[in-house]
Amino acid sequence: MTPSTSTFTTRLSDAAKVIETSLEALLSDKAAPGEIARPPRLMAAMRHAALGGGKRLRPFLAIEAARLFGVEGQGPLRTGCAVELLHCYSLVHDDLPSMDDDDLRRGRPTVHKAYDEATAILAGDALQTLAFEVLADPATASDPAIRSDLVLGLARASGLGGMVGGQLLDLTAEGRYGAAHIGEADVRLLQMMKTGAILTFSVEAGAILGEADAAARRTLVEYGRSLGAAFQVADDILDREASAEALGKRTGKDQEKGKATLVDLLGMDGARRECRQLVEQAQAALDGFGPRAQTLREAVRFVVERQV
Ligand code: IPE
Ligand code: IPE
Ligand code: MG
Ligand code: MG
Ligand code: MG
Repeated sequence: MTPSTSTFTTRLSDAAKVIETSLEALLSDKAAPGEIARPPRLMAAMRHAALGGGKRLRPFLAIEAARLFGVEGQGPLRTGCAVELLHCYSLVHDDLPSMDDDDLRRGRPTVHKAYDEATAILAGDALQTLAFEVLADPATASDPAIRSDLVLGLARASGLGGMVGGQLLDLTAEGRYGAAHIGEADVRLLQMMKTGAILTFSVEAGAILGEADAAARRTLVEYGRSLGAAFQVADDILDREASAEALGKRTGKDQEKGKATLVDLLGMDGARRECRQLVEQAQAALDGFGPRAQTLREAVRFVVERQV
């Protein structure tokens, strides 16, 4: 590990601790104002899904992107937590028997294994609605226009034209709805949707909180798209090469399930080349921000060099 990546990983793990504390508070058993009650079994399953693991990359990106515009504190932290809650919901549902059918996540049994399938579905549902509740709460941003922009952005990134749509394309590409002839462009599109959209929104959220002008916001979206694409190629490489012990989730499953990945289409060398190109593209997008975007530049390198 180079000195600069070790500084980066310290920054990320320091942020992860703060994010964990904030998520714990959001997932307490005590009902929030306006709620009737929080069923303990549901809360336990939600905490299983959202606490005690994960790199917390998405909230970290939101926090660092907001910092570019001089915005720090509860706003970016709560926004980051909202994105993480949404991400955790997507993992719970991704692991369900009817989806990727996985037993291990973040080194622990998946939620449907630790509880049952119905509880896992409901825990995912509730993580999703909690994410939007957090964004819509005035504690996240006092300006209602900022809050509604955040809600709109997360809805678009996570719904039919983003993550959920991408998950459907991912399953279609497995061939489960009939023979699928999947080319590079199809894989890039499904990956941009299932993974890229939420990562891109994480970064864009910083621009929204910072009331960035249209050009700066576009630049961050461009950066987020390249980072998001690099992230999923790296995930697919790790699925082929890493061990379940190191990764905390089962590996070798993409090939077993007949998932469409760029590793499949381009080979391992081609996938690595694609990663390098995407890193350069993402970093180049930040040129206009100068040295203050250094952490975001390092984040892209982390995404492709990570071992978990
Ligand atoms: C895994 O995401 C799921 C994908 C989108 C490929 P992460 O690798 O960010 O998972 P955690 O949050 O660190 O566990
Ligand atoms: C998941 O992609 C993307 C999500 C929307 C959760 P994968 O199915 O490749 O993620 P892992 O490998 O199970 O973490
Ligand atoms: Mg999947
Ligand atoms: Mg999966
Ligand atoms: Mg994967």
